[in-house]
Amino acid sequence: MADITAILQQYATKFNKDLEIYFPKAEDKEHRAFNAMHYSLMNGGKRLRPFLLHETAALFGVPYDTAFPVAASLEMLHTYSLIHDDLPSMDNDDFRRGFPTCHKAYDEATAILAGDGLLTYAFEVLNTSPISDSKKVELTLLLARAAGAYDGMVAGQVLDLYTDTHQEFAHPEEVIKHTEEMKTGRLLRYPCEAGAVLGNATADERNTLIKFSRNLGIAFQITDDILDVVGDEKVVGKTLKKDKAQAKLNFVSIYGVDKAKAFATDLINEAESLIDTFGAKADNLKMLSRYFLTRNH
Ligand code: IPE
Ligand code: IPE
Ligand code: MG
Ligand code: MG
Ligand code: MG
Repeated sequence: MADITAILQQYATKFNKDLEIYFPKAEDKEHRAFNAMHYSLMNGGKRLRPFLLHETAALFGVPYDTAFPVAASLEMLHTYSLIHDDLPSMDNDDFRRGFPTCHKAYDEATAILAGDGLLTYAFEVLNTSPISDSKKVELTLLLARAAGAYDGMVAGQVLDLYTDTHQEFAHPEEVIKHTEEMKTGRLLRYPCEAGAVLGNATADERNTLIKFSRNLGIAFQITDDILDVVGDEKVVGKTLKKDKAQAKLNFVSIYGVDKAKAFATDLINEAESLIDTFGAKADNLKMLSRYFLTRNH
């Protein structure tokens, strides 16, 4: 069986090289935020969302170059979410992807502006894609909604920050699932839907991919929360053991590591069988979903 970490490594090397086309040399004073965007985007990052997008698009024979600006724009938007997530007023983190966070390497105002810049640039880059105007419109709307404050990533971040975790919930798992589906799940659902749009998937195929991505989103965040408790800081590249200190409500804080892991494993088993319908073309996607459980960073 192929080694998914080697496949991901190879993908990330090419993807990173290609990303540089969006960052011409910029040395004037006004380019401070632009350079901070480049700093946070290029220093580390597993590139899982672009890989997911490329692999989903590849199910339908979409070439790498066609999907590249769509994948690049998603990674930009994701990186913006990390820069802001790390700010002192949010999770207050000093390390990200093995390097000082944006506000530590630059300053807080620049980090806010770099996040704004990446969010905006994402839509500019998406709209340079070599695809039809109707696909651009559809992807623009999907990405805006996935990232947004109504039922997207921003709404999930609001719940993550403002849910009163000392309150007794009748069904805490529903509260957690709802939060994680938005804060993490939406930016993992988007690449699956975008791949389906790029590949002119049928409604059935698209729905299968959406179901698949729902399981991935929750399982992905469970592993993130497990790594916060049992991970190796040097490998993970961020300060760990913070969720408890910040009273975050998640599956690990409620059920403990073992039960959370069992829950994530069930989700991934189901996710894998959902995409059986795509046959051998989905092998990389299956390996990727398994990696969502086994990753150590
Ligand atoms: C981190 O995402 C944020 C979460 C949603 C848990 P990743 O673990 O994919 O971070 P990078 O992009 O590889 O740094
Ligand atoms: C972050 O969740 C989710 C987003 C950035 C949208 P976390 O706060 O758990 O992510 P890490 O652990 O800082 O990467
Ligand atoms: Mg957070
Ligand atoms: Mg955080
Ligand atoms: Mg975390």
